[in-house]
Amino acid sequence: MEENTKDPEIEPTNVVADEEEDFKHVNNPVIGLKPIQKKYLGTANSCLQQTNKFYFTDGDAKVEVVVVTDQIIRVRLAPHGVFLDEFSYAVPKLEQKTTEFALFEDENEFRVSTNVVNCHIRKADFFISFSDAEHHITSSDAVSMHWEENVSFGGYYVFCTKTCAPQESFFGLGDKATELNLRGKRFVNWNTDAYSFQWNQDPIYRTIPFYISVNENIAHGIFFDNTYKSHFDFGKEQNDHTSFWADGGELRYYYIHGPHMMDVVKNYHLLTGTHAMPPMWAFGYHQCRWSYYPEAKVRAIAKTFREQQIPCDAIYLDIDYMDGYRCFTWNKKYFPDPKKMVKELSDDGFKTVVIIDPGIRVDDNYWVFKEGKEKNYFCRRSDDYFMEGHVWPGRCQFPDFTNPEVREWWGGLFQGLVEAGVAGVWNDMNEPAVFGTGTFPDDVRHQYDGHRGSHRKAHNVYGMQMVRATYEGLRNIMKNKRPFTITRAGYSGVQRYTSVWTGDNVATWEHLKLGNIQLQRLSISGIPFCGTDIGGFSGEPDGELFTRWIQIGTFAPFMRAHSAGDTKEREPWSFGEPYTSINRKFIELRYRLMPYFYSTFWEHHRYGFPILRPIVMQEQGEYSNHYRQDEFKYGDKLLVCPVLEPGQKSRKLYLHKGQWYNFWTNEIVEGGKEIEVETPLDTIPLFVKAGAVLPEYPVMQYVGEKEIEEVILNVYFNDIETNSFFFEDYGETFAYEQDIYSEKKFAVRGSVINFVIEQSMEGLYTPRYETYQFNVFGLPFTPTKIMADDKPITEFTINENKVLEFQTNKKFKKIEIAV
Ligand code: GLC
Repeated sequence: MEENTKDPEIEPTNVVADEEEDFKHVNNPVIGLKPIQKKYLGTANSCLQQTNKFYFTDGDAKVEVVVVTDQIIRVRLAPHGVFLDEFSYAVPKLEQKTTEFALFEDENEFRVSTNVVNCHIRKADFFISFSDAEHHITSSDAVSMHWEENVSFGGYYVFCTKTCAPQESFFGLGDKATELNLRGKRFVNWNTDAYSFQWNQDPIYRTIPFYISVNENIAHGIFFDNTYKSHFDFGKEQNDHTSFWADGGELRYYYIHGPHMMDVVKNYHLLTGTHAMPPMWAFGYHQCRWSYYPEAKVRAIAKTFREQQIPCDAIYLDIDYMDGYRCFTWNKKYFPDPKKMVKELSDDGFKTVVIIDPGIRVDDNYWVFKEGKEKNYFCRRSDDYFMEGHVWPGRCQFPDFTNPEVREWWGGLFQGLVEAGVAGVWNDMNEPAVFGTGTFPDDVRHQYDGHRGSHRKAHNVYGMQMVRATYEGLRNIMKNKRPFTITRAGYSGVQRYTSVWTGDNVATWEHLKLGNIQLQRLSISGIPFCGTDIGGFSGEPDGELFTRWIQIGTFAPFMRAHSAGDTKEREPWSFGEPYTSINRKFIELRYRLMPYFYSTFWEHHRYGFPILRPIVMQEQGEYSNHYRQDEFKYGDKLLVCPVLEPGQKSRKLYLHKGQWYNFWTNEIVEGGKEIEVETPLDTIPLFVKAGAVLPEYPVMQYVGEKEIEEVILNVYFNDIETNSFFFEDYGETFAYEQDIYSEKKFAVRGSVINFVIEQSMEGLYTPRYETYQFNVFGLPFTPTKIMADDKPITEFTINENKVLEFQTNKKFKKIEIAV
């Protein structure tokens, strides 16, 4: 083995005493566990400006600082002055959005400033730090950026180490299987098929190298856009250091200023994009299993849903629908006439979603393999042999999804499935997973959209590019219809193409707890449309665990029950009473609240807000909130606290400041404190923020079952002016991109003598229903007069629960309820 020698030209000028030990766990193939010799930036001695880009150098290495927006600054390091191509799968277009910025220089530092952020480059040691407009330092290098030559592959291991304050907390990184607050922990990103993963197992399925730091009530984000195996240490090795590094590629990161966590997430979405509006049916309940077959079984499941009157929008076909697990084929024994079956399911309101894996069976009589082989679309090893591995179909080769031509071909393969009526595609095993070896060897070559690389570079984006190919293909074939896709693996930006599930979890209470955290974490890491396998993939839940999981699932952005093939039946009725009725009640609740969920998704799509919001996101200044992980907000108006223990009769939860209504009892509760709430099996703690206007649809067995004749508006009195959104559109086309939608804003404000509700509307869509049914909760006075746009409403009632009920035309502008 070759010894890694120091380059005398760039002897470290600023090595901190114990830095040699700093990254001793890095798995370096060249020097094994010997101390790693790194090279550090020297003194920053000059600066060159090219519009919004600033180049600093120590004579050899170069650092680029790019002003992206007022809040976002990108930093890149080129160890010997040569930057890599400007290319990223995560950030498709780096657009400069800020015109006001300036460079300052004094004897100690260079400073690039926007209206919001300053990026300081200290001359003596090249330390980079960021401060806000009040010159409060939010992030600061503890060591200058450094690197180590990667002798065996070429390129560099790249490192960045920042200081970590005593009460600094860290959130994000996607689906990590651990507590919400990442402080004191270390992680690796290397997409991994992690069947039955355990608490703290790392890495698992996805790579989202983006974290949010909160310290002294100021949040900032770091997005380390590097697709190689990457590592994050949040004060684990050294309590006062936060580090991130990668086994190759460029040290390229974005500093994203808050000051609120919500701003950080919004701005992260500005870089990586938001999720398009999913088809509305995708918000319904989905039933999955490995596998429902033959056709008679699928039909029986569908029939039971309708007989049991448990709403359901989608049934999934797992790998057994295929002929010998060959993608894009049907097993004709089990499914003799797929088109007919899919059509009949569709007539009964069920969408069919099918699984697709990346492994293509090596079989010269199989058209997909033949085409891929002829066109040379399969991945090859460094010496040109094909990358082969065993997955479900046996011996397989794998398309190189990082090649745009391959993606286009793959997208076109869905033609037949779409013609058969399939509405959605489930992208699995795309870490990529290979039996025995785990994944591809490092030397496999990838086209990488013309920026060539080995599997070390492409591994973490392989799954994302597969689902991208699927999504773009479906979009082409389905024309103006919104495709539905779901993926297991992904990289930052994957949300532009798909929803995500958390992989092969286990039917235990511990996993229920973990899933609850994972979904919050995914939400604030830029993956809005996410869900867990309700009930747990492997193992057997009892009725209680399954029901508690359905309850969480009701408030998961994506709701799907799934189970492994060797488990007992796992449908909402499988556990008998009282479970069936409670499961029905919650799934119905999901359909009732669907317009709220849909509107919240619109807020994500349009404004970049996360769907699920941990409590820390509401009150980041309260340090105790940094460690709350059970309760969360769904959008701005609902606070949910699932029950995560067996036999629990009541539980504690924290309501953030403000007034709340208990959803089940309408009781008003003051927030800003912990409360104890009863948790009988048929409820979970659910609170509505005062001032909310919560739209509600009638219960349906599937989305679009009935024409909506009136929408219920549940209005919760508040004496502080409060706004709510209500979004509607056709639900399955992209017409919203041409402004064919209706975004209504409700502004309410109340006093001891009156309550005013105002409505304004944007967009070109007009829903068919004409009336709103109002339910007004918590009025502090007995109403005697209701005016809708200066016309009196004479018919109103106050029911036995003191809820004021009346109807209006949907077009009202102002309603005044008065004593
Ligand atoms: C993987 C998936 C699981 C699927 C199974 C069979 O384990 O994670 O959801 O059911 O493969 O396709």
